[in-house]
Amino acid sequence: MASTFFDPDSELSHPAALDAKGYAEAYRRSIGDGEAYWNAEVDRLDWIRRPTRFDESSFDEADFQVRWFADGLLNVSANCLDRHLDELGDTPAIIWEPDDPSAASRTLTYRELHREICRFANVLKRLGVKRGDRVTLYLPMIPEAAMAMLACARIGAIHSVVFGGFSPESIAQRIVDCDSSICITADQGLRGGKVVPLQANVAAAAKLAPSLTTRLIIRTADAPLVLEPGEHEYAVLVADVDDDCPPEPMNAEDPLFILYTSGSTGKPKGVVHSSGGYLLWASLTHQTAFDYRRGEVFWCAADVGWITGHSYIVYGPLANGATTLMFEGVPTWPTPARFWEVVDRHQVTTLFTAPTVLRALMREGDHHVTSTSRISLRLLGSVGEPINPEAWRWFHEVPGGGRCPIVDMWWQTETGGGMIMPLPGAWPQKPGSATLPFMGVEPVIVDGEGRRLEGATEGNLCIVRSWPGQMRTVWNDHERFFQTYFSTFRGLYFTGDGCRRDEDGYYWITGRVDDVINVSGHRLGTAEIESALVLHPAVAEAAVVGFPHDLKGQGIHAYVILNAGSAAESEQLRQWVRKEIGPIATPDRIQFAPGLPKTRSGKIMRRILRKVAEGDFANFGDTSTLAEPGVVDALVAQRVA
Ligand code: PRX
Repeated sequence: MASTFFDPDSELSHPAALDAKGYAEAYRRSIGDGEAYWNAEVDRLDWIRRPTRFDESSFDEADFQVRWFADGLLNVSANCLDRHLDELGDTPAIIWEPDDPSAASRTLTYRELHREICRFANVLKRLGVKRGDRVTLYLPMIPEAAMAMLACARIGAIHSVVFGGFSPESIAQRIVDCDSSICITADQGLRGGKVVPLQANVAAAAKLAPSLTTRLIIRTADAPLVLEPGEHEYAVLVADVDDDCPPEPMNAEDPLFILYTSGSTGKPKGVVHSSGGYLLWASLTHQTAFDYRRGEVFWCAADVGWITGHSYIVYGPLANGATTLMFEGVPTWPTPARFWEVVDRHQVTTLFTAPTVLRALMREGDHHVTSTSRISLRLLGSVGEPINPEAWRWFHEVPGGGRCPIVDMWWQTETGGGMIMPLPGAWPQKPGSATLPFMGVEPVIVDGEGRRLEGATEGNLCIVRSWPGQMRTVWNDHERFFQTYFSTFRGLYFTGDGCRRDEDGYYWITGRVDDVINVSGHRLGTAEIESALVLHPAVAEAAVVGFPHDLKGQGIHAYVILNAGSAAESEQLRQWVRKEIGPIATPDRIQFAPGLPKTRSGKIMRRILRKVAEGDFANFGDTSTLAEPGVVDALVAQRVA
């Protein structure tokens, strides 16, 4: 096999749970006789009523639905807590590492976490939260974030976590969309020594979101809270509630959470995940892809504000009785050795992070890594964007000391958990390839017309059939769910990603083929950034594209046309977008353009804008449909000037 990088047997200290033969057999069963396969797998969860129905999904318009285990009853928090108490009551469930390395870390055992979550759930009940209500969470990376999520799950409320880096406008937009009346936040967040004013941001959001009547504030700093009307201090309410909160029996198909994500058009979509199928998928993929063994410390270095944090900090690990490490800080503060010091301090076995982090750390020099031991590490993981082979090799050789397989896991907010990834030690890896599909996942590559391409090929990545962790709908907009994912290629789930399959059948994700860009592993819709720009009084029109960026993977290039007679500085517009959406959406470049390349019917030719942003002026392809061909020359002239 070409370009393989390690011999699985010599690299793993114990044989992995599944070898290539075991995988091939399980994969064949999962596709050939899904019902038997899932009928056995559902027993990894504790059901109040075990399901007798399995996959009832259809991707066809006539009977379109995504549904699994529809007669099953369970409670997600009971699966993540109560059922572990006998055996794992005194085992650490969460180890929390604070932003400030000199501050004390915190460990919560399963018994302690169970008690805290029951009490948290009782606080929510006291505030009037009921089954089916939407609860917005805007929290730093503190154990209370996981507690709040599981407290919602305990009483059947639906959480919607909003990433702590989003602006008041973005918070309000998400609150309004799901008609949420309560937001759980903290006085402040800390990241790399910098304070994020969370409570103030939610107060500002409340002015834009009339449904938001109740704000529950967790105090993290020393200073006493200053409360406005509608704000409650968590510590005060929790002092006065019971330890006991029976878990609410939920249908497998009841929504567990909403998580907003960017698409190629319009405002962010509320991706809805189910209770049964989602938890099963998070648990199964966490166990199998990371070959998780009891007693190990699993560290997913994502933020709980993203799907990776939902599935691999909270739900997957806790469903499996794992010890999950939660890190409040950033990889480069106070020094670029922070990650590896945390690994040593807590004897981390598995570290799951993103290529953008690796590229940033790589640049700082190997001595930050080699000054630490990292002997506890057994596995490494990468997620969020294609990993460039250079970063893969560095991760494997320097932090991993050449000993640890890399789980390059491809998936999406919509998929709930990993879909294409190497199982540790089961087969040889190739840097940059997510390798082979997980159980029950049947990928296909299609051309622009939806024709399936066989063998070694390249095209659009689609999935043929449903899997338990698949999103169930777009909140409040089921039609948009169908239109977004199932109307491009009939009968298939379209991922929005391009993909190559090589001669060994390995999958290589090449990046988004729609108008979504991936900046430092954060997914952004170009349309959202354009909408923010045109809200500025000086801006008449804007078009945003991604361009290759050494550290971020993709950077943001915004073409802006000003209103006649208006003036604006690039920095003003960058700050404007930052304020409207959040720091992650700040454009890297603003190009004040004289016009945009459009077809005669008025459609912007983004392909050309991408090429100009990339600095590739030679291959514009067919430009015969341009209304004003001179515009392209003017844009190029600005870039070369
Ligand atoms: O383009 C793919 C990229 O991230 C997108 C999904 O983003 P999001 O919903 O924010 O979820 C990120 C974490 C799962 C995908 O459409 N992506 C994610 N993982 C990989 C990846 N691209 C290549 N390789 C990966 N391992």
